[in-house]
Amino acid sequence: MKITQLCSHPIIQAPMAGGATTPELVAAVSNAGALGSLAAPLLTPLAIIEQAEHIRRLTDKPFAINLFVQTRPQIDDAVLESAKQLLQPVWQSLGWDGLPTPTRWCEDFDAQLDALLIARPAVASFTFDILHASQIQRLHEAGILVVGTATNLAEAQVWQAMGADAICLQGVEAGGHRGTFIGRQEDATLGIMDLLRQVQPHSRLPLIAAGGIMHGRDIAQVLQAGAQMVQMGTAFLTTDEAAIHPAYKAKLLELASQDEPDAQDATMQTRAFSGRIARGVRNRFMQTMQAVAGQVPAYPIQNALTGSLRAHAAKTNDTELMSMWAGQGAHRVRQMTAAALIATLVAELQQHQSH
Ligand SMILES: Cc1cc2nc3c(=O)[nH]c(=O)nc-3n(C[C@H](O)[C@H](O)[C@H](O)COP(=O)(O)O)c2cc1C
Repeated sequence: MKITQLCSHPIIQAPMAGGATTPELVAAVSNAGALGSLAAPLLTPLAIIEQAEHIRRLTDKPFAINLFVQTRPQIDDAVLESAKQLLQPVWQSLGWDGLPTPTRWCEDFDAQLDALLIARPAVASFTFDILHASQIQRLHEAGILVVGTATNLAEAQVWQAMGADAICLQGVEAGGHRGTFIGRQEDATLGIMDLLRQVQPHSRLPLIAAGGIMHGRDIAQVLQAGAQMVQMGTAFLTTDEAAIHPAYKAKLLELASQDEPDAQDATMQTRAFSGRIARGVRNRFMQTMQAVAGQVPAYPIQNALTGSLRAHAAKTNDTELMSMWAGQGAHRVRQMTAAALIATLVAELQQHQSH
């Protein structure tokens, strides 16, 4: 079975950690003939199994589960102290005396993978690093297709050599974290069209294009350039089923209502929230931290450390302090149900393919 045979439309709803990809969204997307993905990077093993069961109560169609390939960090007290200092202008502006030390840094990847194997989705997708051959073998033995994320040619080649079933190419336009694991994250700057052009001649796997794809016309363009499917994140953030913070959804819709020239520059990349480069809507936190963003500790330490700040932002509806991950197409979001978005995209795609 190939990934392209799992659904009627060449559209994957991107996994989006942080609450956007609810079981309701994943199931609605799969029921509408595309492939829904559950983001499980921040979920406990038990929650992965429970959410997969929830999805299955809502659909009998295939869906994907996604994980960050990560290891638990070693915590050095000196690194932690200096990271807290770098964030001082932010916590001080809230009137705090300091920043709490997190009790947990990230989930245990091996336990998450065991849970994913129990949940047995049709597809498992991975980002941030490569799997071991034995892990890919376990997934294949369970009948699960493996999708690896690549932001450059070397990564696509490694996933292919390791036995992945498809590659998700992530252009620099993409919202959320960069998946880069070979070379420096700041050097993985290719947009999706250039990345496709570079990887396609070397690939015998289905290529899934991601980054700034918002409209059926964009889908037609990447399919024409050799992609078999697309993975769209930002476009689904303003669907009714996506459970992001209401102020974050409102911010995206506000961008979409502005004139394009103003709104086009609305996102930027930053390491400051999490220690890994990610694209989101520009705000005061990113600007305050811009000068020192290169010095913050790597994911997941910085991510855990800013957790209390982001929780405060959520509680106080403060969009200047939230991480509002979104791609360069943020100003082109549309508000509707997931099923209506898919029907709209498919109609637009057909219109552009017939030209
Ligand atoms: C809010 C948000 C959260 C994301 N979380 C994840 C994630 O958990 N796992 C993952 O592989 N990719 C994640 N991504 C990246 C997507 O897989 C995809 O590369 C990206 O959404 C494509 O660009 P677009 O947002 O312009 O459509 C996230 C993207 C966004 C916008």
